[in-house]
Amino acid sequence: MNKKLLNIEFLEYDSTNDIDNDLLDLINQAEDNLENAYAPYSNFKVSALCEMENGVFVLGTNQENAAYPSGLCAERVAVFAAKSKFPNQKIKNIVITTEQFSEIPCSPCGSCRQVIAEYEQQQQSPIQIILKSGESTILVFKSIADLLPFSFGGDMLKKKG
Ligand code: THU
Repeated sequence: MNKKLLNIEFLEYDSTNDIDNDLLDLINQAEDNLENAYAPYSNFKVSALCEMENGVFVLGTNQENAAYPSGLCAERVAVFAAKSKFPNQKIKNIVITTEQFSEIPCSPCGSCRQVIAEYEQQQQSPIQIILKSGESTILVFKSIADLLPFSFGGDMLKKKG
């Protein structure tokens, strides 16, 4: 039996002062977009921004529905829109913001992590994830793999041999 330890590295910024201007611009764009969330049931507004390798960014917000499971998280709205419009562009950054302050900023749900992991595996380059909720600290993960270790992926569906 081997006991193994998994380390996850991420950056924590206490304020936006130390953040690089390009990244700060993305965060501001995502926050400005919060008002476009359609969240009449939870009142929890989420906004996500995908920055593609060509510099274009695509925004998304959570979209709720009276039949609750029919709604969709901001991250998947943004990622699916981005990959529908720019199927051949790699995703570089995904910024996830919420209005509501929480000490640990809101991080993507399991389904959104799985969806982001799919594209990271497909494009074979890391997707950086940036989290900020209201006046929270800002967390930066260099890859979705850090938020979803041992993820299920397409290669597991392929028959070996
Ligand atoms: N939500 C997101 O859009 N992203 C997350 O990372 C967490 C949850 C949405 C789904 C739902 O509209 C509301 O937040 C409450 O769960």
